[in-house]
Amino acid sequence: MIHTRELRDPITIGGDLQVGRIGYGAMRLTGPNLWGEYADRDSGIALLRQAIEAGVTLIATADLYGPHTNELLIREALHPYPEHLVIATKGGFVRGGLEFSTIDAVGNANYLRQCAYMSARRLSVERIDLYYLHSGRAKDASFEDQVGTLAELRQLGLIRHIGLSNVTPNQLRAARQIVDIAAVTAHFNVVDRQQAPLLGAALEAGAVFVPWQPVSLTVPGSATDTGGPEAVRRVLEPIASRHGATVAQITLAWLLERSPAIMPIPGTTSIAHIRENLDAQDVELSREDIQSINNFAPEGTATKALPFTPARSSL
Ligand SMILES: NC(=O)c1ccc[n+]([C@@H]2O[C@H](COP(=O)([O-])OP(=O)(O)OC[C@H]3O[C@@H](n4cnc5c(N)ncnc54)[C@H](OP(=O)(O)O)[C@@H]3O)[C@@H](O)[C@H]2O)c1
Repeated sequence: MIHTRELRDPITIGGDLQVGRIGYGAMRLTGPNLWGEYADRDSGIALLRQAIEAGVTLIATADLYGPHTNELLIREALHPYPEHLVIATKGGFVRGGLEFSTIDAVGNANYLRQCAYMSARRLSVERIDLYYLHSGRAKDASFEDQVGTLAELRQLGLIRHIGLSNVTPNQLRAARQIVDIAAVTAHFNVVDRQQAPLLGAALEAGAVFVPWQPVSLTVPGSATDTGGPEAVRRVLEPIASRHGATVAQITLAWLLERSPAIMPIPGTTSIAHIRENLDAQDVELSREDIQSINNFAPEGTATKALPFTPARSSL
């Protein structure tokens, strides 16, 4: 066993927000198809409160989730917020109905301003700690203008730090010419390392890299699958059993070992899974473990065992 990182080391976002290495993605606390209210509101509220008690210090949401219901649920459960809690939200997507195919990126200045003001209102905060542009895909304004809008909102004090979600490395570089980028979020896990160039660019920028769907071993657009393909399970299960850990913990520990600037945000509707995911910080992988997991998908690729059905590439 080698010691490659300090266990339970915190991570700093934007130079001043210190949080734990593993956040919580709240997206699942919505209705079917991420539309409307979470069916069991009371248990959603209880889960969010238990998450804080368990040690979650960053919750990731977006105006798109519900839409709006996810942010409102977080406020109802947790406001007034504990001092150490960071809430990260995102704007820039609209949803025309129940189908994921109705999701569209919008980036004009008034729309993005409204998104940020309304997220602040729903969350009941004067300033949003971390606000992401949800995608780099909007066509109604240039990418630079969209980043410029967020920079203005930061100047006005509505946003503390700016993040980018689902952008290209070139877009990240372009954004950095305009304003500091504190965090970059993208799909990245043990079987899908297609976004490795973006990870590299984020690290170069001094930004925190936030892998979404870190324990769901699929490519974006595929149904959630935390077991992963058979070939992947055959490698992960013995590693997990050697460490007295679960497969989900191994996938998270692998991300933590990859860089001290990586902060995964696993989503779950179970408090047992929240605790388990946080405890992944205590799993130390050996060099051999890391190598055999790296072999699933060479840097910049996704493992061939994964079907690619891009029905919902980003949310
Ligand atoms: N920026 C973007 O475009 C984008 C896109 C997608 C997601 N996100 C963000 O990423 C977050 C994470 O996505 P997600 O992880 O929710 O992906 P997901 O694939 O939608 O759901 C995670 C799945 O993993 C299961 N799970 C979690 N921890 C587990 C554990 N320890 N053991 C076994 N199963 C476990 C959950 O089931 P249980 O509920 O049964 O635990 C759930 O089925 C979201 O909340 C959202 O904030 C961002």
